[in-house]
Amino acid sequence: VAVRAEAGAGGGINPAIRKEEDKVVDTVLTGELAKPLTAYCRCWRSGTFPLCDGAHAKHNKATGDNVGPLLVKK
Ligand code: FES
Repeated sequence: VAVRAEAGAGGGINPAIRKEEDKVVDTVLTGELAKPLTAYCRCWRSGTFPLCDGAHAKHNKATGDNVGPLLVKK
């Protein structure tokens, strides 16, 4: 299986989000979701991480990748 990665510094997948943390973990209790549909970032490029802000579209266009958000329905 070929794996293509646009690596961040040091070869990781995360280029800039909360790099001071040992591991980026977010918890969402679904009962607390304010909207009926919430999009969570899986490309690590969102300026509103962990929420998707559409930055994946620019990343996909620039790299030929096909990443998109995780959609969670209430
Ligand atoms: Fe990362 Fe949309 S911005 S998946």
